Amino acid sequence: MPNDLVTVFGASGFVGRHIVRALTAQGFRVRAVCRKPNLANYLLPAGHVGQIQLLKANINNEEDVARALEGAVAAVNAAGVLFGHGLQSLEAINADASGRIARAALKADVGTLVHVSAIGADTQAISEYARTKGLGERAVHEGFPRAVIMRPSLVFGPEDAFFNRFAAMARFLPALPLIGGGKTKFQPVFVGDVAAAVARAVSDPAMAGRTYQLGGPKTYTFRALLEFILAETGRKRLLMPLPFWLAGLQGFFLQMPSFILPIKPMLTVDQVRLLKSDNIVQDGAFTLDDLDIEPTSVEKIVPTYLWRFHPKGQFRDVQRLAAH
Ligand SMILES: NC(=O)c1ccc[n+]([C@@H]2O[C@H](COP(=O)([O-])OP(=O)(O)OC[C@H]3O[C@@H](n4cnc5c(N)ncnc54)[C@H](OP(=O)(O)O)[C@@H]3O)[C@@H](O)[C@H]2O)c1
Repeated sequence: MPNDLVTVFGASGFVGRHIVRALTAQGFRVRAVCRKPNLANYLLPAGHVGQIQLLKANINNEEDVARALEGAVAAVNAAGVLFGHGLQSLEAINADASGRIARAALKADVGTLVHVSAIGADTQAISEYARTKGLGERAVHEGFPRAVIMRPSLVFGPEDAFFNRFAAMARFLPALPLIGGGKTKFQPVFVGDVAAAVARAVSDPAMAGRTYQLGGPKTYTFRALLEFILAETGRKRLLMPLPFWLAGLQGFFLQMPSFILPIKPMLTVDQVRLLKSDNIVQDGAFTLDDLDIEPTSVEKIVPTYLWRFHPKGQFRDVQRLAAH
């Protein structure tokens, strides 16, 4: 119902900020939870004055979580980590904190909980990320059985990690790594479609207890995605096949500095393991189609933000037009 309060954990993140926008567009008030609200003021223009409240809370802390849920009619958990260490381990954030939020939501009598997981979440997975996402889903089911679980494939949008990262790498590297030969399949999904699905779940009781797999209109191999990025950014780069074992070794050395310095590694051993499985929607799953959301294509959105990586930047199209 308009003006009702929804708590969003992970609101400052890539997916979270679009969920905040989708919720305010529906008229909800949003309590945007993050650890450093002083750095999250960019969220405020996503709503009217006073519609979004920033709250400092750490999801590792039981009291913080309970306080964040006070008076909320619904909650969304879009917090997560892809690379973890120390108190921010994959187990602590993706698994334990997900269960903590679910139990606290039930205790606080929150009507709906939407949990953002990931395609491939599996308690038996070889990748620690996929395994902890699976454990998180299990904890959410146990803590809040009516929760809606959203499992996106690779998510794209202006602030994404995948397209922006490889486009940035292509600026200075002579070759891009085709990990495992580049055969892994993805079904990239637009962040706006993920946010729309989450916002719908907040207000549609018919979705309670279901798991949705969110993918875009097309599947691509890892190689096809890199070729698309190179074409869009006007770069000619070698795509160098890298067997999984060699990529794993590279990940081992690249992740090392991140254990002592607060930086995100370019590649980790676990990300290489994750690439061993396809990341696509399974047959028979609930999808965006069941929500009447027409998935948006990579080709429509990604060029609107990858132009920054083109040698001619925003003048790329001026040159193209002049040539005709
Ligand atoms: N991006 C993708 O392609 C993709 C694909 C499939 C699934 N997912 C899932 O979608 C969710 C969001 O991903 P994302 O790409 O938006 O990640 P992101 O940009 O890294 O955002 C992660 C969010 O989690 C919050 N967070 C982490 N540790 C926290 C803690 N201890 N206490 C409170 N908040 C904490 C961060 O808040 P701070 O500002 O406080 O750090 C941030 O808002 C994750 O569950 C991820 O597994 C993402």
